[in-house]
Amino acid sequence: MRYTEDDLKDKTILITGGAGFIGSNLAFYFQENHPDAKVVVLDSFRSGETLSNGNLKSFGHFKNLIGFSGEIISGDINDKDLLLDLEVNYDFDYIFHEAAISDTTAQEQDLMIKTNVNAYKDLLDLAVAHNANMIYASSAATYGNAESPQRVGREAPNNVYGFSKLSMDHLSREYMKECDINIVGLRYFNVYGAREYFKNTTASMVLQFGHQILAGKNPRLFEGSDKILRDFIYIEDIIQANIKAMAPNTSGIYNVGTGKARSFQDIVDILQKELGTSLECEYIPNPFIGSYQFHTEADIATTKEALGYAPAYEMEEGIKAYVPEIKRIYETEVK
Ligand SMILES: NC(=O)c1ccc[n+]([C@@H]2O[C@H](COP(=O)([O-])OP(=O)(O)OC[C@H]3O[C@@H](n4cnc5c(N)ncnc54)[C@H](O)[C@@H]3O)[C@@H](O)[C@H]2O)c1
Repeated sequence: MRYTEDDLKDKTILITGGAGFIGSNLAFYFQENHPDAKVVVLDSFRSGETLSNGNLKSFGHFKNLIGFSGEIISGDINDKDLLLDLEVNYDFDYIFHEAAISDTTAQEQDLMIKTNVNAYKDLLDLAVAHNANMIYASSAATYGNAESPQRVGREAPNNVYGFSKLSMDHLSREYMKECDINIVGLRYFNVYGAREYFKNTTASMVLQFGHQILAGKNPRLFEGSDKILRDFIYIEDIIQANIKAMAPNTSGIYNVGTGKARSFQDIVDILQKELGTSLECEYIPNPFIGSYQFHTEADIATTKEALGYAPAYEMEEGIKAYVPEIKRIYETEVK
């Protein structure tokens, strides 16, 4: 089902995590395609506070929203007073829930469960109170090193981040049973594309290798990178899945990938081809063995069937489409 401009006229859309990578892309999608919809972004932005691994606690950045003219709220989804205020003062039709501790290497189990799982429950209650559709970000991290192709129902998370996303899915199923609202969980695989730069070292390796190559540095890969395969998915296909998940009677949990596993070496090779370079690669030991995914490949049969989702970008096409933005970010932010 495709939404025409009129379908979302006078609808109110909440995007949590809207100053982050995927959330900000969603915000612009609605602004550009549904100018009469009211879009509210809620994000804690970045405070400078770090986790024990040295990464920022939240990656939201105002630059992801330059040009966005909807309402912006700086706030924490763990703040119950704020959620009560949203319940009383707004009437949401759709909630796109992207806010999370999105760092798969974060070690703070308490903060992870509180933010990713407990706050999500409060947002589900908000959705129920408003009779709103809930579309939330789950993750391929729920699968850990489960056998490929990964299927919903065969999870084996190997870090607390993946565990938290699986807990969100369990919670969602309870709400699907007991409540009338439409709830869709989207298990994104490895996403790359515009507006990910401010995730720093947690941004995709497509961007990070792209910038290494543009700086004339040898791309640095983990040893055995030709055998570390992931399902890499371009942001446009993530947006497509979210929009298709707005259709009625689509409650469920779905994989969002391309259905193809590609290696980290492939990324470098495609980038070098697009950028016209032939730098030699350096291979370094992988410090994340034990909590690292070595082969992901989404089974997208049910996503296609239930949502009408069809990935439009193979990695060659996604990287080609992304290269001008990789260069722009390099010129404006890195150099
Ligand atoms: N990017 C990927 O490859 C990928 C893959 C699987 C799942 N996901 C999930 O998709 C969602 C979006 O990811 P992303 O890549 O855009 O990451 P991101 O870090 O850019 O976006 C998350 C946003 O949430 C905000 N946030 C964090 N804690 C918050 C809090 N307590 N209150 C309010 N806002 C808070 C951050 O400031 C940030 O802007 C996340 O739930 C993530 O776990 C992403």
